[in-house]
Amino acid sequence: MAKNKNSQEDFCNFCGQKIDPNKTLLIHGVDAAICENCTSAVSAMLEDFELKTAKKKSNFKLNLLKPQEIKEKLDEYVIGQNEAKKVISVAVYNHYKRILYAQKEQNEIEIEKSNIILVGETGTGKTLIARTIAKLLDVPFCIADATVFTEAGYVGEDVESILTRLLQAADYNVEKAERGIVFIDEIDKIARKGADNPSITRDVSGEGVQQSLLKLLEGAQVNVPPQGGRKHPEQKFTVVNTQNILFIASGAFNNIDKIIAERMNTNTIGYNKKNRQVNKNNMMQYISAQDLKQFGLIPELCGRFPVITYLNALDREALKKILTEPKNALIKQYVRLFELDDIELTFAENALDYIVDKAVELKLGARGLRSIIEKIMTDAMYTFPSLKQKKIDIDLQYAHEQFEHSIFACLEN
Ligand SMILES: Nc1ncnc2c1ncn2[C@@H]1O[C@H](COP(=O)(O)OP(=O)(O)O)[C@@H](O)[C@H]1O
Ligand SMILES: [Mg+2]
Repeated sequence: MAKNKNSQEDFCNFCGQKIDPNKTLLIHGVDAAICENCTSAVSAMLEDFELKTAKKKSNFKLNLLKPQEIKEKLDEYVIGQNEAKKVISVAVYNHYKRILYAQKEQNEIEIEKSNIILVGETGTGKTLIARTIAKLLDVPFCIADATVFTEAGYVGEDVESILTRLLQAADYNVEKAERGIVFIDEIDKIARKGADNPSITRDVSGEGVQQSLLKLLEGAQVNVPPQGGRKHPEQKFTVVNTQNILFIASGAFNNIDKIIAERMNTNTIGYNKKNRQVNKNNMMQYISAQDLKQFGLIPELCGRFPVITYLNALDREALKKILTEPKNALIKQYVRLFELDDIELTFAENALDYIVDKAVELKLGARGLRSIIEKIMTDAMYTFPSLKQKKIDIDLQYAHEQFEHSIFACLEN
């Protein structure tokens, strides 16, 4: 048995500790020995190292669903918007296929990224679709509002802070973040201001921000302040490669239907009468990059969003379905809330119709539904937990009374 050179006792040459061979295992080499504790420490380090290098070799598992499966899942949460759901399902599928494909060495054909622009009025489900997709695929997701960004050097947030949020959503796992989805809301609000507004000499929030966004969209290595903002100037940057991040932009693009109509008109005159029949009631279905440029997005930015789709305004029928049908439909949520207090809550059809009526009046799409129900239900949620009564049916009269009462209370305050 080899003893440590300097003494007759057993030493671990790794940690330098004296070892009692009766208590701790000491493994001897030719000229040195290592104790049991140090071997497990080394083993843990090895494991960690292997894990890291294995990750670099990228055998990440993605819950890659087929386009039809993605669409079916979306159907569980998003009412209507079939065209948008279909287009997005394909785009998302291709995006992640592209990443998987790129991992298999040497490919001559590079598949281009399919960033998406969603055009549609407020409360039609743009954010809901993006959020649901991220959840389905189990990838990091963050929402950024385009209106808060400014060009570098101006007061406001730098566009890099978008990636800070994505990093946070990925628990600071850079690799995970690099496969995430970034949702940029209100992209229409940073449109270039037209010549019809000469009072703006320096377009701080428009074209400049679009230029800054381009940097993220071009698939570059971006220096990201991990804690965000300019508040921590001392922090080290994290480098994030945006090549495989999926960007979904959205906006209402008010009155873009007029731009589309104008373009379609010129075309029908330009070509001939035999051209396809144009459905004037739904111009949105013809939306193209040309229209977005006309609206004020710079061509380079449009070029980075090859997939354009639209969401319809929600009609009464859709709004009513939204109340009751999605997996986490509002009505289901309230029923559950009451159920937790052993109270059976039901809604009469005419009460649901009343809620829909009020939502239509509000012109906030499905966004209005929540606040309307909340107003109707507040009183019941306040009193019922203390009552013996274990059943409540919300009918038209009750809904109307409660809603009017809450409006009245608002006016009084
Ligand atoms: N098509 C839809 N199907 C189901 N719920 C919807 C739909 N559109 C909107 N909603 C509901 O309305 C709310 C606002 O929708 P959101 O996706 O944020 O609208 P926006 O188009 O303005 O991004 C969401 O919380 C969602 O519950
Ligand atoms: Mg939104």
